[in-house]
Amino acid sequence: MSDLSEKILGELTKTDSIDTLELSKTFGQDHQKIVGALKSIEAHGNLLVVEPQTHKYFELTAEGKLIAENGSHEALIYQAIPENGMLQVKVNKLPNSKIGFSKALAAGWIHLDKSTGQAIVKKKVQSIEDKVQTNLLLIADGEISKLNDKDKQEYKKRKLIQEVTIKSFLLKKGPEFSLVLPKLETDLTADMIASGNWKNLKFKEYNFEALGAPPDSGFLHPLLKVRAEFRQIFLEMGFTEMPTNNFVENSFWNFDALFQPQQHPARDAHDTFFISEPKISTDFPSEYLERVKTVHSIGGYGSIGYRYNWKIEEAQKNLLRTHTTAVSARMLYKLAQEKEFKPTKLFSIDRVFRNETLDATHLAEFHQVEGVIADYNLNLGNLIGIISEFFKKLNITQLEFKPAYNPYTEPSMEIFCFHPGLKKWIEIGNSGIFRPEMLLPMGLPEDVNVIAWGLSLERPTMIKYGFNNIRDLVGPRVDLEMVQKNPLCRLDK
Ligand code: PHE
Repeated sequence: MSDLSEKILGELTKTDSIDTLELSKTFGQDHQKIVGALKSIEAHGNLLVVEPQTHKYFELTAEGKLIAENGSHEALIYQAIPENGMLQVKVNKLPNSKIGFSKALAAGWIHLDKSTGQAIVKKKVQSIEDKVQTNLLLIADGEISKLNDKDKQEYKKRKLIQEVTIKSFLLKKGPEFSLVLPKLETDLTADMIASGNWKNLKFKEYNFEALGAPPDSGFLHPLLKVRAEFRQIFLEMGFTEMPTNNFVENSFWNFDALFQPQQHPARDAHDTFFISEPKISTDFPSEYLERVKTVHSIGGYGSIGYRYNWKIEEAQKNLLRTHTTAVSARMLYKLAQEKEFKPTKLFSIDRVFRNETLDATHLAEFHQVEGVIADYNLNLGNLIGIISEFFKKLNITQLEFKPAYNPYTEPSMEIFCFHPGLKKWIEIGNSGIFRPEMLLPMGLPEDVNVIAWGLSLERPTMIKYGFNNIRDLVGPRVDLEMVQKNPLCRLDK
């Protein structure tokens, strides 16, 4: 390449200016190669003044080339006709007969003789001059200027020639012109700085246009990208991740520990996937289980309970966890068993399962994002504050809270945000303060409150990446190319 670059510089000692197309002919090199060598000269400083040029010219199409070589269709038809003529049906079988026949007829080279009752094509003149072929040969030699406009137009119309544009560069000597390329440094070393020698050196410029090498790695699914962002936000806010690696849970932790009564409709097989093998769990902290049973059936801690006959058999049933709050319950129970209570912030992002009717926005499994804070005397103000802080990090600042009901929180609030794209308020989460009937049986101190909120991972992901149908995001219809090509996720942008 540098060889060719120096040859180009050499040419400029013979003349004031030269076009790269000319150089391509002179050196018998592909024009692209010349342009490459020119770019390399330009990277070495102002050796040249370079002016972009556009050239428009006509070249023969594939059909045009065939005609230039063998003759026009009309001439070939003319030549194929013997002295005594040829049946029209036979002529029709010759190559390009349709256009050739009508052009030859129009040129007055042939005529149709029907006097015998049969259509016979006969020559009308002794010799012809194939002007089309002659002209196309002229064009191939770059002498289109010798043609009149009418012919040019006709060949264009017949698609025998086409206009092409090529870009080239006109080169002149520049202020730093030299016959050899100066050496370019690629590294700035400590020595160069110490000696001050860097001032005399020329450095290679960065090529910001260079394409990046495609990463030789796996690709994160959009849900995983958004999960990574949420996790980052929780970590920045000082939360610790809960171990959520158990999809199978039992009803005790999924419902009973959360003060969800055993007749609650969510505990129906229509809403929950129960496990048939193993059907039940039997290993529960027995004292705690007794306290849960008591608070459900007769109350306690100032509550009258639900007043029903609580059954261990119902609590034992295994299921696919319907929310990650089951994990939060396990963690809060564990926290209550510590000798001394320490304020704690926990989060989880993992999969949950519900026996739902599937549609464009619902699947039977999805991911929940959940945050939980246990501390002394937390109130609704703290909950609203932390939720606002959390969503601010997602660049969501317009929030509204609506009273709601959960068996395990009181008060409870649904979280709505204003979606500027959809121009409406949409529900994004659920939240609340865990009830004393849930926390006190665990053994947490009375003045400790636990605030918590949850949202799905799918909803923000669909909004962020513009999916309308959840099946494009999850399941067998997912386009792997979508996974590879969708951009990095920055939720705050
Ligand atoms: N578990 C609730 C749900 O599944 C979300 C939630 C979490 C609500 C924490 C309040 C507190 O929708």
